[in-house]
Amino acid sequence: MNSLAHFDCERTTPSLTDACRNDFAVLNCGDERPPAYLDSGATTLRPKVVVDAMRWYLEQGTAAIHRGVHQQAIHATDQFEETRSLLAGWLGADSDEIIFTSGTTAGINLVRQGLQGLQRVAVTVMEHHSNLVPWMDLENCKFIPVDDMGQIDMEALEAVLKEGVDLLAVTHVSNVLGCVTPIKSLIEMAHRYGAKVLVDAAQSASHHPIDVRSLDVDFLVCSSHKMLGPSGAGALFASRAMHDQLQPVAKGGQMVDDVTLEGWTLQPAPYCYEAGSPAAESVIGWGAAIQYLDDFGVEAIGQRLKDLTHKLVTRLQEVPGIRILGPEPGGQRGPMATFTMEGLEAHAVAKILSQRERVLVRSGFHCAKPLHRHLGLGPTVRASLQIYNNDDDIDRLIRTLCSLTKLQLM
Ligand code: ALA
Repeated sequence: MNSLAHFDCERTTPSLTDACRNDFAVLNCGDERPPAYLDSGATTLRPKVVVDAMRWYLEQGTAAIHRGVHQQAIHATDQFEETRSLLAGWLGADSDEIIFTSGTTAGINLVRQGLQGLQRVAVTVMEHHSNLVPWMDLENCKFIPVDDMGQIDMEALEAVLKEGVDLLAVTHVSNVLGCVTPIKSLIEMAHRYGAKVLVDAAQSASHHPIDVRSLDVDFLVCSSHKMLGPSGAGALFASRAMHDQLQPVAKGGQMVDDVTLEGWTLQPAPYCYEAGSPAAESVIGWGAAIQYLDDFGVEAIGQRLKDLTHKLVTRLQEVPGIRILGPEPGGQRGPMATFTMEGLEAHAVAKILSQRERVLVRSGFHCAKPLHRHLGLGPTVRASLQIYNNDDDIDRLIRTLCSLTKLQLM
């Protein structure tokens, strides 16, 4: 991949061990005990290179993107476009297939509103609200059941596809169960019945190798802030074959080539989908994050997270009264474990973990209420991992959970 040589800070090649923790300021706060940050499924920490890239744009490089011929505008635009090619490389796409959005939700909404002739959609019941609510006002929105492990009922899906579906919208990794869906087979099956496929890769894009070309996926969405990048940026991959069928939704500057009082002509993709001034510093920061991830390599990141996740799940099994949702240890699981604890309410568990040991987890329904209802569950607790987590983070979680159950028994 190309190098982001635009900000005057020294980049060192990070190593995928505890040493990479040095790149995350909150994990290095002097004498104070750092948090065991186990909430990366919600949002990841950002390494110093991301802060530096954003600082470069804010302090030195500020200029409107795509709107100037002066030196600073050209430089800022180059850095902005560099992120597009870095992300395209990360996903195996071409740059003109990467549409910048404000995040995963905005990407899904662009497909919902812009895809011509969209009437019949199929989604699984385990989707995040962002991949449910946008489709639910369609008259024909079919919900495909999943089992406790997050396995999709393939017979039910095939029956629905046979009846006729325009789009299957499905998560790659469930943000609650952690299960990894068989997207390759899902895409093949959907295409066999003439349906297009949108993959929600919000929970997978940072660590799971994705090659949009070999998957033959039509649309794929992801967010910067779940990939060590800043908030406010995300992307919709729309395969070139979809460009004719996807109409721009937001109208305004930047997306037009010519405007008269009679009408306008559009810019080519991806620019026709990117009306208005973009979140320049976020996109530029995201480029630094992708490059940081790429320096480790997605395979190494995936393996590291697999090992940590295995440890997380097996150690959680030691805690009395715990019920872990999703795949068994050894099964295909993204870097998280969601659980309930007998006799203890999820928010109470999360608050105690935070107050006593600075162990930070998410509690509640994780923007997936239909899944919780489907499985007959109330609020749950989720511990999720990233490359900066280590064994000590997991030990602290387990120790505190065990002490909670002991207290209960007293
Ligand atoms: N989608 C994020 C989560 O699952 C916010 O926590």
